[in-house]
Amino acid sequence: MDLAGKKIILGLSGGVACYKAAELTRALGKAGASVQVVMTQAATQFITPVTMQALSGKPVYTDQWDARIANNMAHIDLSRDADAIVIAPCSTDFIRKLAQGACDDLLSTLCIARPAHLPLLVAPAMNVEMWQNPATQRNVAQLATDGIELLGPDTGAQACGENGMGRMLEPAQLLEQIVASFQPKILAGKRILLTAGPTFEPIDPVRGITNLSSGKMGYAIARAAQQAGAFVTLISGPTALDAPFGVQCIQVQSAQQMHDAVLAQVTDQDIFIAVAAVADWRVANASAQKLKKDGKDGSAPILEFARNPDILATVAALPKRPYCVGFAAESENLLEYGEQKRLRKNIPLLIGNIGHHTFGKDDNELILFDADGHTLLPRNDKQVLARQLLAVIASRLPR
Ligand code: C5P
Repeated sequence: MDLAGKKIILGLSGGVACYKAAELTRALGKAGASVQVVMTQAATQFITPVTMQALSGKPVYTDQWDARIANNMAHIDLSRDADAIVIAPCSTDFIRKLAQGACDDLLSTLCIARPAHLPLLVAPAMNVEMWQNPATQRNVAQLATDGIELLGPDTGAQACGENGMGRMLEPAQLLEQIVASFQPKILAGKRILLTAGPTFEPIDPVRGITNLSSGKMGYAIARAAQQAGAFVTLISGPTALDAPFGVQCIQVQSAQQMHDAVLAQVTDQDIFIAVAAVADWRVANASAQKLKKDGKDGSAPILEFARNPDILATVAALPKRPYCVGFAAESENLLEYGEQKRLRKNIPLLIGNIGHHTFGKDDNELILFDADGHTLLPRNDKQVLARQLLAVIASRLPR
């Protein structure tokens, strides 16, 4: 679990987006965190402390003068063993309070009394005009100067019926950002390009050849790289997955499109990780019109194939190539074929999937092949493996 053992203070200030804080509380809990909810009086107008207590499993604090804490110093005690404070939603007024160092209620006092090392993350939520107002923007700039991390906001339809910047991030996106804030920034400033998912090679406008790759491993690496501080570009074949937060995602279908997108993005990349299950062949005589069941003369259609470009080998052959990493899914002789493939593709690191039944699963077991031999990354959740893998890659980058 991504947040196992972490203690998070979730502060709610007043805003319609309080309803999303309920789901965020559950998501944090599912990720292993224990959540202590603190609400402003305004927040209690939008969602009740009863709901937040039921979801967090802990009494909710709303009042600076709450006598439940023995020494009556909730503003000090609550934050002393916390790992982070997250304000979601963070209203226009609460941003002002943080910017000015106000301490006129429990939540603002708790924020100003937090230990200097304790991360404070805020998820703004407000009407577009309130967000764009120069006073708000001045306060937001002050938060950044003070080392307070902003999560969003997003742009889009707002509860008030208007449209624009100021929407609070969705709970799943907030969770990703909170997890990210705990990750060591081992790839800070690095640029990483990845391919992921299957390719789809058309036979006619409605049919094609694809494979069982779900994209989960590639997306997990893209997410972990973003969380480790990298600028990530993900070239993805068709998958059912949402793009990881903060990752530039370019959707393609065929291997040729994936090849073209990779070459358009590869300049100045530090790392290229080819995770996609790319079709080796495409249909050379794909039909512009839907093929009819009976064919032209009643016979079965005959497909002709042409070789697809090898994207990884092409990138590995560039004169100014990034650090290249490939994947292999073999159904037999992985140790032998893995090393052969690494040498054939001329890459420093190749990752072998142990067994070819990993497609679509949430966990995996990997073997890393490099010039020194091979090492095992034992079975684990793909997100955990992605972080382990990036730690290995980060340690091998030229300084
Ligand atoms: O050659 P093979 O498909 O077994 O190699 C797998 C590795 O090569 C993966 O990293 C895959 O993403 C990459 N690959 C590629 N372009 C292809 C075929 C495979 O980038 N046309």
